[in-house]
Amino acid sequence: MTDAKIVELEREGLQAMPALSCPLQLNVMDPDERLWPLLKVRLHNSSQLQLKRLSDQDFLPKGDRQVLLMVDHPLLAPVYDELERKAGESRSLIFVGDAQNTGLVRRAMRMGAADFLPSDSELVELWSALVRISARVSASVSLAPVTVVINGKGGSGASFVCANLGHSFRDEDEKVLLLDASRHYGSLADYLNIREKQGGLHDALQRAGEMDAMALAGMVSKARDGMDVMPASVLPLHDENAVTARQCAQLLHLIRGQYQRVVVDMSRGPEAWNLPLLENAEQVLVVMQQSLSALRETIFLLRQLRHELGIGKERILLLVNRYDKKKDVSLQEIEKATEIKRIVTLVNDFAMAETCTDLGRLVAEEKRNHKLVDGFSHLAQALRLGKERDEKPGLFKRLFGH
Ligand SMILES: Nc1ncnc2c1ncn2[C@@H]1O[C@H](COP(=O)(O)OP(=O)(O)OP(=O)(O)O)[C@@H](O)[C@H]1O
Ligand SMILES: [Mg+2]
Repeated sequence: MTDAKIVELEREGLQAMPALSCPLQLNVMDPDERLWPLLKVRLHNSSQLQLKRLSDQDFLPKGDRQVLLMVDHPLLAPVYDELERKAGESRSLIFVGDAQNTGLVRRAMRMGAADFLPSDSELVELWSALVRISARVSASVSLAPVTVVINGKGGSGASFVCANLGHSFRDEDEKVLLLDASRHYGSLADYLNIREKQGGLHDALQRAGEMDAMALAGMVSKARDGMDVMPASVLPLHDENAVTARQCAQLLHLIRGQYQRVVVDMSRGPEAWNLPLLENAEQVLVVMQQSLSALRETIFLLRQLRHELGIGKERILLLVNRYDKKKDVSLQEIEKATEIKRIVTLVNDFAMAETCTDLGRLVAEEKRNHKLVDGFSHLAQALRLGKERDEKPGLFKRLFGH
């Protein structure tokens, strides 16, 4: 393929084509490289699709999100036999070959092919097949709602809130996963006193394309009954292995299929790679404290969330942490300045927070009927009601936890 052709193909892009409903990995067996160069040029930019080249000696990938693309070739005959034997396994197969060859078409059917594309098909036909497969896969799994806890200003309490909120959610949701979205140091595992950390976000992101539920189980640590945590990995400052939004989307999809609720600690704010967490969040909980500098930074973050990421006001809940009604910045002023009507508060209890932080315990484990525990369960309830909650006027009706 000439450079000019590649540039032309890159320019065409896939913008006009519909998006995949969930991330997929496309494993390509194409011994003669009839399609592979074109796929590499045209599909490498898709945030939802991971491309992988396979040889006829490789293991056949298994799993709902695995798609095998076979480009017909005599070398692949033993693979066809194996596929026929394993036709019941969970994977999707797309076959590319001579559509006039009815024997081959029938064989592809016996292998359980989801689609048979003639050799001269346009790329758009392959993409349509992938769109159909992704729609089927995402309809077959129920995806856990995601809550992202994000600081309006660093140090406002996102990690403390996240750990305790996860515990409150656990009362109703069978299995909760807390995800520490810090790429370097993250404190969530310390808040939960996880000594033997198992797994970590960075490794999970690196392997996101090929992980299945079993591999995921090895990447999380048990925090409490019904609550796991994916801790942040500790990485050197000069970490060369960049992670991508695509890996993040793939990992999140896998996680959402395995848990009933996902709570993300995004203490450090949005970054290019973690945007899928925000995009998929049913609710974004913005944590702020009652100061002018916190208000200024929170307004900036809210602008990014709303105008750059298109997150509507109905998906944002503002938490004024360490609330004190005697302080200068009132809730009315915060509401006016941020334009967010859904505001909740959490009391300030330095002694309790310090004890919990030092011991790696949750407030409910220290004192079951503490005001903060009520605050967290009200918070969980407000997030559960989520979008259905009316934006009714009457500020003080909407406040709790103090
Ligand atoms: N409601 C509260 N009352 C008293 N102290 C609190 C409250 N919420 C959080 N804290 C304390 O504030 C400190 C910072 O909390 P936390 O680590 O959750 O902040 P963070 O926003 O995650 O910080 P970072 O941006 O560094 O990740 C901790 O010592 C915590 O115990
Ligand atoms: Mg934190």
